[in-house]
Amino acid sequence: MSADAPAGQTAAAKANPNGPTEETVLAVEHFTDRLFRFRLTRPKGFRFRSGEFVMIGLLKEDGRPLLRAYSIASPSWDEELEFYSIKVPDGPLTSRLEKIQPGDKVLLGRKPTGTLVLDALTPGKRLYMFSTGTGFAPFASLVRDPDTYERYEQVIVTHTCRDVAELTYSRNLIDSLKDDPLVGELVGGKLALYTTTTREAYPNMGRITTLIENGKLFADLGVPPLDPSTDRAMMCGSNEMIQDVKALMLKAGLKEGSNAAPAEFVIEKAFAG
Ligand code: A2P
Repeated sequence: MSADAPAGQTAAAKANPNGPTEETVLAVEHFTDRLFRFRLTRPKGFRFRSGEFVMIGLLKEDGRPLLRAYSIASPSWDEELEFYSIKVPDGPLTSRLEKIQPGDKVLLGRKPTGTLVLDALTPGKRLYMFSTGTGFAPFASLVRDPDTYERYEQVIVTHTCRDVAELTYSRNLIDSLKDDPLVGELVGGKLALYTTTTREAYPNMGRITTLIENGKLFADLGVPPLDPSTDRAMMCGSNEMIQDVKALMLKAGLKEGSNAAPAEFVIEKAFAG
């Protein structure tokens, strides 16, 4: 199918009430040659919980949809949908997705789901969100949700990337929250962003696993070591990072939760295109 196929896409979407809807690109921002974010129209009736993921994609040459799971980076109250994506030069989807412009169409699945939701955790005082790379996306949603601050006294987001430029999205977003009309007053004194790099010089360097193990994270933040009676955690990033952080959570006595059985921490791997 050619580029002038929107009519066909719409017909296909209408023909399959469970298939993806076709949404319009509203904005695109490139951070580095590996990372960008974009915003889409949100269809009426599209409901999700902050922190969930959904399938998004584009039509292939043969007219069939090519879809991948993406965490929704916008909060559940937002009228638009935001996504944060890696660009993989040979990636079947991201190599095309990185070229989208406002006005273009993107396919959106109808069934958001996921475990990085507040309801999958038992009540606590301090919420950690551990992320690497594009694994920050679900937390970009949760830090903009007032519910997060209603449930926790302290919210600590960690973001580790290879280079300083890859921290741009998280740093800009968290910085902008103090002026946010909805959560601006809630975040003051409650929300902390802890950024580190692993491959480029930066004031704070090291893998998050190392910084948990040697206690530097807690010392820098002025908080006590992990405690299952007060601390809750979510993690999102590469599979290896998740497994390693999960082992540290278990060692500290926290148990893994799910939607069906909430507990002290939940995990989701970051989805690459
Ligand atoms: P490193 O540079 O030491 O590999 P990527 O861009 O490959 O997704 O990685 C994002 C960040 O996650 C990098 O800073 C990387 O560190 C870090 N990372 C990769 N694997 C692990 C792991 N097993 N535990 C903690 N951090 C990790």
